[in-house]
Amino acid sequence: MLASRAMKHPVQVVIFGASGDLSARKLIPALCENALRRAFAAPVQVVGVSRSPLTSEAWREQLYEWLDERQRSVWHELAPNIHYVAADASDATSIEALEATLVELAGPWAAVAGRLYYLALKPTLFAPTIEALSAAGMLQCDPLRDEAWRRVVVEKPFGRDLATAQWLNIVLGKHLREDQIYRIDHYLGKETVQNILAFRFQNAIWEPLWNRQHIETVQINVCESVTVGDRGGYYDTSGALRDMVQNHIMQLLALVAMEAPTSMDAEAVRSEKVKVLRALVPLGAAEDVWQSVVRGQYVGDGAHENSSQNGYLDEAGVPSDSRTETFIAVRAQIHNWRWNGVPFLLRTGKAMRSRYSEIVIRFRAPPADIFGGPQQADVCRLRPNELVIRIQPDEGMRIRFLVKQPGPGAVMRQTSLGFDYSDTFSERSPDAYERLLLDAIEGNATLFIRGDEAEASWRFCDAISAGFVAPDAPSPSPYSVGSTGPHEADALFQGCEGTWSHDDD
Ligand SMILES: NC(=O)c1ccc[n+]([C@@H]2O[C@H](COP(=O)([O-])OP(=O)(O)OC[C@H]3O[C@@H](n4cnc5c(N)ncnc54)[C@H](OP(=O)(O)O)[C@@H]3O)[C@@H](O)[C@H]2O)c1
Repeated sequence: MLASRAMKHPVQVVIFGASGDLSARKLIPALCENALRRAFAAPVQVVGVSRSPLTSEAWREQLYEWLDERQRSVWHELAPNIHYVAADASDATSIEALEATLVELAGPWAAVAGRLYYLALKPTLFAPTIEALSAAGMLQCDPLRDEAWRRVVVEKPFGRDLATAQWLNIVLGKHLREDQIYRIDHYLGKETVQNILAFRFQNAIWEPLWNRQHIETVQINVCESVTVGDRGGYYDTSGALRDMVQNHIMQLLALVAMEAPTSMDAEAVRSEKVKVLRALVPLGAAEDVWQSVVRGQYVGDGAHENSSQNGYLDEAGVPSDSRTETFIAVRAQIHNWRWNGVPFLLRTGKAMRSRYSEIVIRFRAPPADIFGGPQQADVCRLRPNELVIRIQPDEGMRIRFLVKQPGPGAVMRQTSLGFDYSDTFSERSPDAYERLLLDAIEGNATLFIRGDEAEASWRFCDAISAGFVAPDAPSPSPYSVGSTGPHEADALFQGCEGTWSHDDD
């Protein structure tokens, strides 16, 4: 087994959905990177489980193809500890046989080895797999012992609305304690996202400004340039609200808007996040929703030969009369002392002009313009102070402000101070899954979502969905592939300065 730092007992990482995309593209490379960094504090054994009749050797060969040169350099150490078991995760008999194999593989450590079960399965298999594991006695562990622990990582999506998320929480809660459940949102594993908390709470200068007195708007953009491609069948059952807003965007909003936790302990951080999510003003009547939300659907030029130019309705697996949104923009409000009255403008879409995720905090303009006169127009055309937190690509942060241009008069120019990860740090940033897998193995749930957080987020998003089921609800607004989304979304800025940030701003 692979070993390193100071954790005491060996660990078995059991990946359900071993032959799938996530396992090959993200999970195994993440394990390799951790092995390269000698990050594991204990010997780690990996056991892949799916129904395909593969041998361990054949699975390893498949995985090897997905590794880059760096990761391949550690493969000779990892490979002997990577095993495959063909089993149906929802079938009790298969699972009992898996238990026997895990015990055999752990050998003399069987009684003390910790186990991380990673559900890289389609969501309908989450509950049956937990039930099968529980029936086989594979989830039981003593919370007071730090050996032989059992934890479960649950992939996204966690439910498809509030009711299904509540039901899944109940099923999980029947078989596991909350501290055994790791609901993943890989955005929380990104360095830039973790840095939001460091930036806010490790620097005293921001806190006095971080409120409704000084901030005019907060916008969160998660824009993708890809179309739904060959995932049309799946995507049509989800849409941008469920696929991006309920999880990634709500998590970003919570990190930006939460109060300071008392520590970085999982309960302290998550309790503050859930307070913010619960303070989101629910959108009520359908008309309220239509005022505060703009949905869009990309349209192509009909040139089917180049599928990237297909409109959404032309994509394989998408019904020709689908009303599923591929773009959504929401004007949200948080009803608490810190944020009351500050619009939180949230936007995500597929097939947009460029791929970038960023948060823009726009501060209020100075209360009086003492530089008036003929240059007034210039001042007004320029934006007031903004803090831009760039999550991807070109990770970093930038503060925009005005300076006087050299020369006579008082002509203002906008400039910025910036921090770029690539300039500041020579070491590579770990991939999100690398960090999250390690945290789950080490029992640190700070960057995972608690059950009540998932429910609070669904509660807000369900009200949006409800507003669009009425037969007279507006259809998604068309926008061209490669554009910045439907122009109707600009109206969400009504009453405040500014507009959506663009990648080339
Ligand atoms: N791929 C990504 O980048 C990504 C990103 C974020 C979240 N996720 C989430 O991660 C999960 C997995 O996604 P994926 O893209 O890896 O899906 P996938 O490529 O379709 O893989 C699904 C895996 O589940 C296995 N499986 C299906 N039924 C099974 C059963 N009854 N027992 C055991 N194994 C079974 C399949 O193998 P067999 O057919 O051989 O059993 C396959 O290995 C999903 O919940 C997805 O939403 C994926």
